Amino acid sequence: MRDVIRDLPGSKIREVANAGLGREDVLAFWFGESDEGTSHAVSEVAIASIRRGETFYSHNLGLIELRESIAGYVSGLHRPVTVDRVAVTSSGVNALMVAMQALVGAGDEVVAVVPVWPNLTAQPQILGARVRPVSLVPREGRWELDLQRLIEAITPATRVLLVNSPNNPTGWTLSAEEQRALLEHCRKTGTWIVADEVYERLYYVDGARAAPSFLDLCEDEDRVVVVHSFSKAFLMTGWRLGNLVVPRGMLDALGKLLEFNTSCAPVFVQRAGIEAIARAAQDVPPLVGRLRHCRDTVLDALQRLPRVQCAVPSGGMYAFFRVEGEGDSLAFAKRLVAEHGLGLAPGAAFGTQSEGWLRWCFASRDPGRLCAGVMRLEKALRL
Ligand SMILES: Cc1ncc(COP(=O)(O)O)c(C=O)c1O
Repeated sequence: MRDVIRDLPGSKIREVANAGLGREDVLAFWFGESDEGTSHAVSEVAIASIRRGETFYSHNLGLIELRESIAGYVSGLHRPVTVDRVAVTSSGVNALMVAMQALVGAGDEVVAVVPVWPNLTAQPQILGARVRPVSLVPREGRWELDLQRLIEAITPATRVLLVNSPNNPTGWTLSAEEQRALLEHCRKTGTWIVADEVYERLYYVDGARAAPSFLDLCEDEDRVVVVHSFSKAFLMTGWRLGNLVVPRGMLDALGKLLEFNTSCAPVFVQRAGIEAIARAAQDVPPLVGRLRHCRDTVLDALQRLPRVQCAVPSGGMYAFFRVEGEGDSLAFAKRLVAEHGLGLAPGAAFGTQSEGWLRWCFASRDPGRLCAGVMRLEKALRL
């Protein structure tokens, strides 16, 4: 086996979750998904598709009907995108991997904004690329970008800038001005931008339907690849459906590359995706309202606790906080599970920069469950 595969780090979130395995009393907020299931209307469409016998291989790039609805949906949120820039993938993580396979090879340099969901930085490493992390800077619990430092890190030797905004785990979100500055700089250095925007709809700024996106700014032929997922805003984590928006000239090759990965997304899942998009205008705003309430519930309570430092995130579905005196996040998270029945993700899972922090996924149908969790944390901190 290649060294890089043999040496892949195990998931620290799983390590904490395993410590609570088989215990029904644990209140778990460690994984990045809501406890709310997919809407029945969406599920019914998939069931009907299977009953009709849509159980065969399909187009590499996805059903044209789904690609058209994605193009329409994205164009409604951002600048117009034509269907010849859209590829359907089997999840957001598959979209990211395919984008990486298309763009980076052994020895290439990838500049990545961290802390970040670890899959993003592992993928280029699996392909033999070198990842240069540029860290956000925590200031009084809020993570901020040092734009100048990031721009200086991107040189003509940088093949890809990898950035996830709204960010998992910190909730940090790029502003339109920062995106413009990065796009202009990357045009000069010839660097591709891979923008993971899977949380774009989970954005809590009044009046905004989505977080600022590179798709608000870039031209059709810019070297920008935007990654989307059906997992978060449509509550479809288990369906494994995502998509890419790419420059027009990239699409044919991407179709060939998808053939060697998954060949195609399942047709009945794609049918469900069409329905999810059709229902987006009625389903997504209430979901965002519920998540906003969850966010406020957890953050209000966390900010009252002794020794806790955190800021209210403008996007995503995570509270990211640090507890004074708790420097080893993995050990602390394991202790919270073992002694207090509280399941959180350790900051160390997202890079060395966020050691000492904890991530709390606040996406829950039941704000009471969140309050019960905070009470357990309070008890742990007062001991
Ligand atoms: C930042 C980020 N990107 C991509 C994904 C991938 O989502 P999925 O593979 O479920 O579409 C996740 C999932 O948690 C994520 O947090």
